[in-house]
This record gives sequence, structure tokens and C-alpha cells, in this order.
Amino acid sequence: MNRNVKVTTNAGSYPAQIGSGIFSDFLEKRWSSSKAERLFLVIDKNVWNLHRERIENTLQHIDISYSKYLLPEGEKSKSFAEWEKIIDFLLEHQIKRNSPLIAIGGGVTGDVAGFAAATVLRGIPLFHIPTTLLAMVDSSIGGKTGINHSIGKNLVGSFYQPSAVIADTDFLSTLPDKEWINGLSEILKYAAIRNDEIFSDTNFFLNRNADYRNHPGIELLIEKCIRVKAGIVAEDELEKGIRAYLNFGHTFAHALEKEAGYQKVSHGEAVFTGMLAALHASNRTGSDLNEIRLERFATLYSLNQVIYSFPIKQLIKNMSTDKKKTGANHRLVLLKDWQKPFIHETDDNDLLQDAWNYALQTVNKSGKLKQK
Ligand SMILES: NC(=O)c1ccc[n+]([C@@H]2O[C@H](COP(=O)([O-])OP(=O)(O)OC[C@H]3O[C@@H](n4cnc5c(N)ncnc54)[C@H](O)[C@@H]3O)[C@@H](O)[C@H]2O)c1
Repeated sequence: MNRNVKVTTNAGSYPAQIGSGIFSDFLEKRWSSSKAERLFLVIDKNVWNLHRERIENTLQHIDISYSKYLLPEGEKSKSFAEWEKIIDFLLEHQIKRNSPLIAIGGGVTGDVAGFAAATVLRGIPLFHIPTTLLAMVDSSIGGKTGINHSIGKNLVGSFYQPSAVIADTDFLSTLPDKEWINGLSEILKYAAIRNDEIFSDTNFFLNRNADYRNHPGIELLIEKCIRVKAGIVAEDELEKGIRAYLNFGHTFAHALEKEAGYQKVSHGEAVFTGMLAALHASNRTGSDLNEIRLERFATLYSLNQVIYSFPIKQLIKNMSTDKKKTGANHRLVLLKDWQKPFIHETDDNDLLQDAWNYALQTVNKSGKLKQK
């Protein structure tokens, strides 16, 4: 069964489709009789190596010419250098204003290719084919594109909505377990800030020997998450208000990713640790939330041991470069209760220190430790 969520924005709406094998159908329907002279693909190198045959067969079948740029995997590719290389590639292949750019990969590919689509020729049509769980439930939806700067994460970018998002769950067949758990972090975020039902939908992750790839509920779970995000984006596309709630845990997370040089800690791991910190800070500011609801997932994460040596003072300093900071205060998304997020502006160092202590100790105690 194919699922469809309409994502509404100021400029109109676009479909987010979820289903098995829908990538080929979509390309065929959209381009077999299209006037687009050439498709431009930006593809994560790993995804190309793993799914090359299917992608090539589909393109041959439609009989359309295409040019592809293979993006090196990993967060390091969300850089000025890679953005520039994609722009060079597009211009050298004489891209036109109506030429579609199709981003095939995880959040990294979507973010940097999306930013290239937003900026080349002042904007060309963009299509997201997310291939990680995280990208399906989160980064492909809502139009945030961008790259990192040495001063901090996602500091350069734009809001640029795609024309369609095609979440073909067949891509997930090759996704390593670690990346499923990275996606789980953003799913738990939706449970915490908006839809309590999602907590029980994620219980299967905790089963020993859980077979994520063949879980019958995965498409419905992805759809539920997209609905949460689409609902928030429809109300506040440009993050003037409630869209900030989607940053639950993220101010802490970005500080951790920066400290790890965008290498030793993945975005999903950092978000999970950051949500633990935000949850603890919520309780310190008067809420009464059962921390076990998130804590129990810590056993699934295998964080690099190196993060336990990060000085908390430095992590707090890193939080200062986050976009969400206003004036002297840190702007945190906390919870009054489950699904009741609010913005808490604070310069209380003890609160931050305590939140970091709890989060790092929890992942240290429960997580599977990797050696350096
Ligand atoms: N734009 C937004 O709204 C938004 C929201 C959340 C996160 N993000 C960003 O998303 C990024 C994280 O995304 P991510 O977790 O998808 O990371 P990613 O894109 O780096 O992908 C993770 C890993 O999975 C591999 N991979 C991708 N698809 C695969 C497949 N089908 N099979 C096997 N391997 C596959 C990639 O090569 C990579 O090694 C971060 O940069 C984060 O800031 C953006």
C-alpha cells in the first residue's frame, strides 16, 4: 500500500509518498513524457554502489539522459567545498532553470544538494529521494537545506521546498543497523513533542534480535512522523515560532557534533544524547517527566568513547554558536509535559552543566561503548 502525505507551504503543496518500489514508478510517471532535457542526480556514493543497478535500469527504461554527481558519504560533505563542486558540475553540464535536480541519499545529500538546487541559477526544481530512515522521517520534509561552517552546524543555508519527496522503503534494505538507530532519534523527538502513540510504535526497536528491515509497521511509522513534521511546517514554515520545537535536543546535539569534528558522533547519536539533556533540564525547571521513557533506548546506541572526555565547559561554549541563541541566553526547547514543548531562555550554567552530566552519564552507563 502506498501512502501519501500532502506537505503544505506558503508557495503551495507537494506530495511526500511512502512505499516499496515507488522510486521507479515515480520517475517513470514524471519523466517518461517530460520536456526536461536532462535529469541531474546528486547521489550518495554508498547508495550508488549499493543500488546502482536499480537506479540505472529505471533511467534506461525511461530513456532520458542524465548526469550524475557522486557525493562522498558523511557529514563532512555538508561543506562549502562539496556545495561548490556540485554547482560546478551543474553549470559545466549546462543546467537550465527548469532542469530537475534529484537528490538520492540521506540527510547529508538532501541538505547539500538541496542548497545547490536553491542557489544555482537562483533555484531549480528539487526532488528528494531519501534513502535513510532519518531522511525519510525528517530531513527531506520541510525545505531546510544547508551546509556546515567551521563555527557551527547548518549555519549556511536556505529554506527551499522540494517539488516532491519519494520515500521508497526498498532503499532501507541495505541500511546498516546503526543508521536505523540514528533515524530512531528523530522519531523519538516526534513522540516527545507531538504524538505519544509513536513511543509505543518504537517499542519493536527494543526487542532483542529486532528485524528492522522487515518490520510490518515501518511504512505507517514513517507516515506518522511525516504527518507530525508536515503539520508543524504548515503552521510555521520559516521557523518564526512553533517549528523551533523540532529542535528539541538539537542545541545540545549540535554542540556535541561540533566538538566531535562532525566525525566521531553521528547526528542521530548526538540528537539522542541532546534529548536526554533537554529532558533532564525540563525536570530541573519544574516538569515531572519520567526519564526512563527515553533512557531505555540508550542501550541501542553505540557512542564513541571519546565523547566522555569532552569537557562540559567546552560543550556549553559550543552551544553559544547555535543559531537558536538569542542575546546572552541559550534558547532551549524543553518540555512542560510530554507533547508540551516550550522555549526556555536561560543563562543558567548550573542547569546546562547538570543536563550534560545526566546525558553523558546515561549514554555512558547504558550505551554500547566503542573503542576509539
Ligand atoms: N534538513 C533538515 O530538516 C534536517 C533534519 C534532520 C537532520 N538533518 C541533517 O541530516 C544529516 C543526517 O542525515 P543521515 O542520518 O541520513 O546521514 P547521512 O546522509 O550521512 O547517511 C548516513 C549513512 O548512511 C549511508 N546510507 C544512506 N542511505 C543508505 C542506504 N539506503 N543503504 C546503506 N547506506 C546508506 C550514507 O552513505 C551514510 O554513510 C545531518 O547533517 C543533519 O543535520 C537535516
